[in-house]
Amino acid sequence: MEKIIVGNFKMNLEKEEISNYIKQIQKNRYYKKAVYCPSFLYIPYFSEKDIPVGAQTISSYNEGAHTGEISAKQIKSVGASHVIIGHSERRNYGKETNEEIYLKIKEALKENLKVILCIGEKEEEIEKRKEVIKVQIEESLKDLPKENIIIAYEPIWAIGTGKVMNQEEIKKVSLTIKNIVKESKVLYGGSVNEKNIKSLAKIEEIDGFLIGGASINPEVFLKIIEVAVTM
Ligand code: PGA
Repeated sequence: MEKIIVGNFKMNLEKEEISNYIKQIQKNRYYKKAVYCPSFLYIPYFSEKDIPVGAQTISSYNEGAHTGEISAKQIKSVGASHVIIGHSERRNYGKETNEEIYLKIKEALKENLKVILCIGEKEEEIEKRKEVIKVQIEESLKDLPKENIIIAYEPIWAIGTGKVMNQEEIKKVSLTIKNIVKESKVLYGGSVNEKNIKSLAKIEEIDGFLIGGASINPEVFLKIIEVAVTM
């Protein structure tokens, strides 16, 4: 089955670079096969060209006096179809809790956005990985409908470090997640790049990939997309 590919640009690229990025990707026939998640500012640059686009987070509030926040409704109104919620960097620097993540997901689902819920253990939690991800999933989703939820499993020690999890482990975790949330698609994230995508894309238990560093360079990202959707 065709893999889902999501690019998380994080806080990278400025206006000119984004315009060039878009020009570059449009030269490739597979560019619409990925969801691009740039900073909020640039969401319309993608949606206006009919390119699948998502945000990297949203507010847990609906509207009103929340200076600096951006709501699910607002990202929807500029054409986003997806939103990443609970990325480990937001849990870490933004001190996001599972309870807040739950509220954000609730807001996103009200707007019919597809949610990419990020979960994953820290290095010191590897031994109790199952427990950690079970709590993250259960506390973040509670009784919410699951159809529009995609779970991105990203072991924190593999993010931006060049360390990829071993494939047998990836399979195992994916099955564990699917046992907890039967309807969910599961993505793997953490140091996926143009070199390792060939072997990672063969893992049937994984439905796609969340890609950080390697999504910022259009040529590199397109190589990844092409491999993942044509395997
Ligand atoms: P990475 O990041 O691909 O740079 O490891 C993944 C992520 O943080 O989503």
